[in-house]
Amino acid sequence: MKVALELCNFLFTTSCLVLISGLQLHSMPYDHFATLECLKEPRRAQYGGGIIVNPDFDHNTKGWSVYGNGTIKVRTSNDGNNFIVASNRTQSLDSFSQKVQLKKGMMYTVSGWFQLSKGSDIVAAVFKINGSELVRGGYVIANQGCWSFLKGGIVANFSSSVEIFFESDNPTAELWADSVSLKPFTIEQWRSHQDKNIERVRKSKVRFQVTHLNETALEGATVVITQTKPNFPFGCAMNSHILTNIEYQKWFVARFKYTTFTNEMKWYSTEKIQGQENYTIPDAMMKFAKENGICVRGHSIFWDDMKFQPQWVKSLPPNELREAAAKRMNSVVSRYNGQLIAWDVMNENIHYHFYEDKIGVNASAEYYSSAYHLDPKATMFVNEYNTIEYSGETIASPVNYIRKLQEIQQFPGTAGMPLAIGLQGHFGRGVPNLAYMRSGLDLLGATGLPIWLTETSVEDQPNQAQYLEDILRESYSHPAVQGIIMFQGPAQAGFVYTLLADANFKNTPSGDVVDKLINEWGTGPKTAIADSRGIVDISLHHGDYDVTVTHPLIQHSKKLKISVRKGFSPDTMNVKMHT
Ligand SMILES: *[C@@H]1O[C@H](CO)[C@@H](O)[C@H](O)[C@H]1NC(C)=O
Ligand SMILES: *[C@@H]1O[C@H](CO)[C@@H](O)[C@H](O)[C@H]1NC(C)=O
Ligand SMILES: *[C@@H]1O[C@H](CO)[C@@H](O)[C@H](O)[C@H]1NC(C)=O
Ligand SMILES: *[C@@H]1O[C@H](CO)[C@@H](O)[C@H](O)[C@H]1NC(C)=O
Ligand SMILES: *[C@@H]1O[C@H](CO)[C@@H](O)[C@H](O)[C@H]1NC(C)=O
Ligand SMILES: *[C@@H]1O[C@H](CO)[C@@H](O)[C@H](O)[C@H]1NC(C)=O
Ligand SMILES: *[C@@H]1O[C@H](CO)[C@@H](O)[C@H](O)[C@H]1NC(C)=O
Repeated sequence: MKVALELCNFLFTTSCLVLISGLQLHSMPYDHFATLECLKEPRRAQYGGGIIVNPDFDHNTKGWSVYGNGTIKVRTSNDGNNFIVASNRTQSLDSFSQKVQLKKGMMYTVSGWFQLSKGSDIVAAVFKINGSELVRGGYVIANQGCWSFLKGGIVANFSSSVEIFFESDNPTAELWADSVSLKPFTIEQWRSHQDKNIERVRKSKVRFQVTHLNETALEGATVVITQTKPNFPFGCAMNSHILTNIEYQKWFVARFKYTTFTNEMKWYSTEKIQGQENYTIPDAMMKFAKENGICVRGHSIFWDDMKFQPQWVKSLPPNELREAAAKRMNSVVSRYNGQLIAWDVMNENIHYHFYEDKIGVNASAEYYSSAYHLDPKATMFVNEYNTIEYSGETIASPVNYIRKLQEIQQFPGTAGMPLAIGLQGHFGRGVPNLAYMRSGLDLLGATGLPIWLTETSVEDQPNQAQYLEDILRESYSHPAVQGIIMFQGPAQAGFVYTLLADANFKNTPSGDVVDKLINEWGTGPKTAIADSRGIVDISLHHGDYDVTVTHPLIQHSKKLKISVRKGFSPDTMNVKMHT
């Protein structure tokens, strides 16, 4: 027992930085990514193709028709594999299609293997709903000479006949496909998969063996387990109201150990007038965070959107911009060096390219390299919106996100840099497409880089709280996700449409969801009674715990601290009670 206690004490003193670097995965060369591979022959269709007829094209084109113009044909590889080919294409949507029936309330994962007869281009899965509306539901970069795996999904908010087909912007190339799958899941099946994953990736089984000093089992001992610190970072944005509003402070500190400042660290906040830097507010917020043991993500050094530059920056000529940006980098990163768990280095640089346009194509990559050298311990994030929350997003789709990561990783000076994937996760109106979200997390997770949901919120609408719960569960259950920060909060902090608490700090339905999940994922005390062998078996969310063991016939209770982590399964915690 002594050894375990010492280990716990050590773990208890870990700082934000140590904790985060402990979570860090190694960045791996892209060639090794399992689901990003390009294969000589495709794999078989997932789920036997689901509701797709003739998914492997072993029955010629049965079930498939031409979509748009062009011709379709089944071809056979030298190894005897059959696949479909769309030739004589003139437009990006010219391909092959199949009609399927979608049922309201079901979630569908779509997948398939794709290849182009020449070049390299993005291929999208497209659903034509009700004969007119086109909804995109998955993307892959297809190449000449090998097969790439497309993964995506669609949620049916209606029952309707739907035509599935594929899009590639390069109509001069033939589009090849094989092993196409569309698999329906009920909400219950989806949830059960989440729960299984949570059990596997976020929890570990722990056994307590309670005995007398002479090792005789103590039946009926009560084991009370209380989480003192969760291992999974589930946090919330904070803003400058925290400095003056004591109720807001109490509300925050009672719930969260991780945060991002919404706007206070941004360039437009710290240097409104050129040369007049003012860090009074972010400094005070950092002080508050430190005093309360709250870990902070730095947000952001730059923002690649023209609109969100400090006013005076917008019109600077390139050489002056370069100089001003170098000063900004040095100023903010040196100031908070060693105090933050992460930096959003160049916010939204897949959608926008203000710095690239003015300074050069490698501007973002250069700034990642500079930030890393100024603050080598902080994890450097790309931070984008729509990547997982909106299947119609083409610019910041998961495949384009991966291209951006590659660009940054290949740039000189970023070798060894802890790089991570930031997904803002601002969900709009309508049923969240969890099928698309999961496929995006799978694709991005295959890079081996850690993923954080960095600004999770759900737009105001009738099912807002339910949708928030669905999204948070989907995130928490995904093995590649290593943290969640919500951009939501109480009315007194100025939040309006994404409220967690009203003007009197009474929970909104979304606030109830958050408190329920905080409790479910860890904090609530758990009580168990030892069986006739003196044993308690329990599955605990990863975190640090205080354990108190009592027995009605024994005067002194026994207290211990344990740390439950992935891969750390204390065989048996032996608890010996003095009579
Ligand atoms: C077929 O191609 C012609 C000529 O490019 C075009 O005008 C027509 O709209 C196409 N039809 C479809 C269904 O895409
Ligand atoms: C392209 O269309 C022509 C005319 O319909 C047809 O003869 C030819 O086989 C098509 N090409 C392929 C590769 O299918
Ligand atoms: C499908 O189209 C019909 C006729 O245009 C329309 O009445 C119906 O509301 C549409 N259904 C959905 C789910 O959009
Ligand atoms: C159903 O989903 C589609 C695609 O996301 C969306 O365009 C449409 O507005 C939604 N309809 C309803 C009734 O939510
Ligand atoms: C072990 O100790 C308990 C409490 O002192 C006693 O009741 C029990 O008989 C002992 N068992 C053995 C096997 O000595
Ligand atoms: C810096 O900002 C603080 C907080 O907004 C303000 O009170 C102070 O006057 C500012 N200092 C200068 C020199 O402008
Ligand atoms: C951008 O960086 C790449 C290395 O990642 C380099 O090969 C290329 O020449 C750079 N381009 C410019 C314009 O500096």
